[in-house]
Amino acid sequence: MNANLDQLQNEFTFQFEGWLKSYLENAQKNTNYSNVLFKSQEYSLLSGGKRFRPFLAFLVFKLFAKDLLKIKNLCLSLEMVHTYSLIHDDLPCMDNDDIRRGKPTNHKVFSEDISLLAGDGLLTDVFFLISNDESIEPGARLDLIKLISEKIGSMGMVSGQAFDMKVDAQLNFEELKKIHTLKTANLIQVCAVGAALLADCTEVQLHNISEFSYNLGMAFQIKDDQLDFNDKVQNFKSYAKLLGPEKTQDELKKHSDLAKQHLIRLNQNTDILIELVNFNLIRNF
Ligand code: IPE
Ligand code: IPE
Ligand code: MG
Ligand code: MG
Ligand code: MG
Repeated sequence: MNANLDQLQNEFTFQFEGWLKSYLENAQKNTNYSNVLFKSQEYSLLSGGKRFRPFLAFLVFKLFAKDLLKIKNLCLSLEMVHTYSLIHDDLPCMDNDDIRRGKPTNHKVFSEDISLLAGDGLLTDVFFLISNDESIEPGARLDLIKLISEKIGSMGMVSGQAFDMKVDAQLNFEELKKIHTLKTANLIQVCAVGAALLADCTEVQLHNISEFSYNLGMAFQIKDDQLDFNDKVQNFKSYAKLLGPEKTQDELKKHSDLAKQHLIRLNQNTDILIELVNFNLIRNF
């Protein structure tokens, strides 16, 4: 990773882990909160993810705004949605994975019933967190809730996961592209567009940020497919399997270039975000 990006990511991650721990400490005080549910959510929230989504939100927000604390609950929410999606994604009825981030998956440590509920809770708590954030104007809270629910709900990420579960081996490129858009690019887009909404960006800025983050999101899932291809049973629902290694690399490059072009159109100093696009191109985890 580039030295500037590396340093900023370390600083951000340190701060983010603090936010997460104090959020959990505070939530745990509620006497209605089931202890086993809490432990299961805490296990996956603190199990060493890259924190790519909150970091992206932070970097976009920082381009336009100064009051960085205003992005805290959006960052927490993005990681909570992501964590919910992974806990459910690993369940035996979905991808049936035993290991995530080198550790046993949530349902291996707890049990399927609790893992299911852990995801339900994390998702719902996001709406509580954002709707109650008094540092954000009520209108902007509503905009964020609209954005998140549109992009990750039944017409977004959840359908992406449903298509992923139910496609057959004859799946074509357009169908696979739609799955990747919905299951992964949508949430990555929410990170950047949500941050831009909070920073009161103009329509033109929002358009470029939306296009930038859609393409970064596609590049992110294509990279995930490349990494999975190297170390898992080969999955036909992946770019690597459907297109082969060379065309997959071309698609990764195409989306990364498009992401950078839209950053340049912002006419701001977006060097650090360009480095983030480059980091995804070469990441090995
Ligand atoms: C994995 O996401 C799931 C995808 C949508 C590709 P990440 O690669 O961001 O997972 P962690 O949080 O860093 O483990
Ligand atoms: C995950 O896709 C997408 C969501 C969880 C929404 P994958 O199934 O490819 O992710 P990994 O490879 O298990 O991390
Ligand atoms: Mg999956
Ligand atoms: Mg999976
Ligand atoms: Mg994968």
